[in-house]
Amino acid sequence: MSNVELLRFAGDLELARTAAEQWTRQLETLARASTPYCLALSGGRIARRFFESVAGQTRERRLTLNSVHFFWGDERCVPPADSESNFAVARELLLGPLSILPEKIHRVRGEDAPESAAAQAEADLRLIAPTDSSGLPVLDLIFLGLGEDGHVASLFPGESEQVMTDARVYRDVIAAKPPPRRITLGYSTIAAAKEVWVLASGSGKENALRDSLSRGGGTPLARVLRLRRHTRIFTDIANS
Ligand code: 6PG
Repeated sequence: MSNVELLRFAGDLELARTAAEQWTRQLETLARASTPYCLALSGGRIARRFFESVAGQTRERRLTLNSVHFFWGDERCVPPADSESNFAVARELLLGPLSILPEKIHRVRGEDAPESAAAQAEADLRLIAPTDSSGLPVLDLIFLGLGEDGHVASLFPGESEQVMTDARVYRDVIAAKPPPRRITLGYSTIAAAKEVWVLASGSGKENALRDSLSRGGGTPLARVLRLRRHTRIFTDIANS
């Protein structure tokens, strides 16, 4: 697919290190301390490796992430200290080690009622991010993981095609991957982002990635790829 840049790696550590290197180098070239840089993080195993790599490289190269505002592509409906919270993992491996200022951290309030959390997350994003011509907030970069069923963020298979044009920035869903109650960015806001990088790592995902990359693919990742002019995929998944 011409709108996909596919980078292959032997394993998760090399994948995470390279993605961290490419992102931190990109930040250095931007060096736009005055303009907010809006980033959305995901959860999962490869996200942990990525956070560790970013924290290490940022310290080694004495980088500053002062312009970066941290948002989330999805969050589980659990309290922020819960081990299942995507915020808790990022705080442990990235935000805490780099002493990111609280005013740059915009977590989804998983402890609140889901609809209220989704509305607040949208309001928080709209306070910082610019909007495009259709009124959607534009994130600079969204990191996504890939699930064994082809899900990204908490966009899971089984939803009708209509959700691809659902204008809600964040919405609450019942997910196939536990914990079930989640808040996720919608397809339209993912489509509107300047960049989307997918960290597709782990066994058992060969079919999910192959289907996502095929013309007419039906997975949530396939839907994202169809909606965007360009998406970068970092993968250690063989035979896909
Ligand atoms: C979540 C994640 C989810 C994750 C993928 C990949 O909250 O669960 O955002 O979308 O990124 O399931 O997870 P792994 O990297 O652990 O396979």
